[in-house]
This record gives sequence, structure tokens and C-alpha cells, in this order.
Amino acid sequence: MKKILVIGAGGQIGSDLIPILRKKYGNDNVISAGYENDLPSYIKDNGPHTYIDVRNKKQIEQVICQYNINTIFNLASILSALAEKKLLLSYEVNFTGLINVLEASKENNVKQVILVSSIAAFGSYTPNELTPNDTIQNPNTIYGISKVFTELLGNYYAEKKGLDVRGIRLPGVISWKREPTAGTTDYAVDIFYKAILEKEYTCFLNENTRLPMIYMPDAINALINLLNADISYLKHKVDFNINSMSFTPKEIANLIKQRIPEFNIYYEIDPLRQSIADSWPNSLDDTVARKEWNWNPKYNINDMIDDMLFNLNIKLNKK
Ligand code: SER
Repeated sequence: MKKILVIGAGGQIGSDLIPILRKKYGNDNVISAGYENDLPSYIKDNGPHTYIDVRNKKQIEQVICQYNINTIFNLASILSALAEKKLLLSYEVNFTGLINVLEASKENNVKQVILVSSIAAFGSYTPNELTPNDTIQNPNTIYGISKVFTELLGNYYAEKKGLDVRGIRLPGVISWKREPTAGTTDYAVDIFYKAILEKEYTCFLNENTRLPMIYMPDAINALINLLNADISYLKHKVDFNINSMSFTPKEIANLIKQRIPEFNIYYEIDPLRQSIADSWPNSLDDTVARKEWNWNPKYNINDMIDDMLFNLNIKLNKK
């Protein structure tokens, strides 16, 4: 029986992952842990919840013991653009926080730890079309460096410390439950809010910046499928490319305009986020994930846009 702790529960991925984990494993078997007050009520009210600051190892250990946790998802992370502005906070959350989770898990008999890496783990020397799974990684952002650290340290604990650690490199994740935050790929979420509410969007990336993206249901499936994958097939552990769709701001804007004809996009480039995006791949080769644990995404860009507009319209009371 799994007893799952999700750290970073109030963030973009946690908000979508927890309801699905609760459906699958039972409400009482999935403990959500957010930072201070950022847990949405549909998470707080439907199962056990607690507060964890990932910088505090004792807090993590207390919760592991209190709920007999055997599985942890660590989703706590300062995203790319904010990390460049808040270096010390990023060191504490993305580096020390990770060490705390891995050490607390090892010392308290947690069986499985799921970590999240990113396309940000690549850099300017990495081949940027169909980036191979195993290739040069030279990120030049603190967030990206923390993701390489996540992969390497996770692999180390898997190989040397007997902990079952697994993880994927997520593309930009598109979803409607939580508002966009400090990610570079978050333009592709914000554009939907603005298209519905204001019929125009000013994009901080240039129109031809192509980035790999994934729709949340596929990202959640990836995490849960990897969680349950037969370990004997996993040659890799925390460093799986997964690929789904790739597009530019101009392309997604045109497809939204086909559905909302009044919609217009404008551009005002933010040099920081543009330089971050320019250092990331256009698309990823995910053959390894397909082979080792049958990764197979379901949503293409048009399915994603239709589903986003449908759900966001309901959420924003526009229908
Ligand atoms: N979505 C993240 C960001 O843009 C990338 O992993 O920061």
C-alpha cells in the first residue's frame, strides 16, 4: 500500500497531480504538503494536508514518521526566471531542499522518491533539435544547474544509497488549474488567460522562440507511469527526456486566433527570459523513456488548446 507525500503541493504540478493520486490510491493515502498558505481548498478539503518548508529537514522527517510515508514526490522548486533574481532562496529550496528530501527519505525508510528535472538542464552546447537523452548539459541558469544537480544526486542515491529515485525532464507544462508563475515557459499558460479575459496578450519572448511543451494530463501520466514502472527495465533513473509538442509564440497565437478571432498577440521582449529560452532545446528525443517505461503522450497542440479554452472558460466564468 502506497503512502504518498507530495511536497510542493500548491504549485502548478502538485495542484493537478494530487487529485489524480487521491483517486488512484485513496484520499487518506496521499498527504499534500505545501508552503504556508498556498494550498487550494480542493486539495486541503479532500485529504490529509500539512505544511512543509523543504528547507527544514526535521519538518520533512516528522511528516514521514507521522503518516508512515513510503513514497515522496518532491515538486518544490524556484522556477527559472525567479531563481535568477533570488539566488540564495534558490540555493536553499532547489539544492538544500533536495538534499533534505533525499537524506530524510534514506534515514526514514522511504522506498521511492520521484523528482522533477526540466528542459532547463540543457544549455548552449546541447544539440537543440531532438536533443538526445544522454548528451552535453551546460545550463547557464541557477534553475538549470539545480536540475542537473537533481538528476546527478538522484542517480547517486539510486546507485549508491539503495533509494529508488526516479525522475523526468519536463518540457514547459501547460495547465489551467493554477495561475502562471515565474517560469519562462509560462507565457504559454498566461496567453490563454489573456486571450479569454482581454482578447490580447503581450508576450515576453520573441515570436519565433520554439520550446518543447506538454499538456498537464500527459505530464501527470508520465509521473505516475514512471512511479509504477518495473525497475528492472530502468537503465536511467532521474534523467528521462519526455517529448510531446513544440511550438513558438506566433504558432500558438495563430491557433488561438482561429478559435477566438478577436485575439491579438503583441511582443515586448524580456531579455532575461528570452536569453533563458534561447539556451533551451526546441524538441527532445524521448526514445529512451518510450523504451524503458513505455512513455507515450496523448495530446497534440490542437487537443491541448481546445481543452485549455474549454476548462479556462468555465473557470473564469465565461460560459
Ligand atoms: N517551466 C519551467 C520554467 O520555465 C521550465 O522547467 O522555468
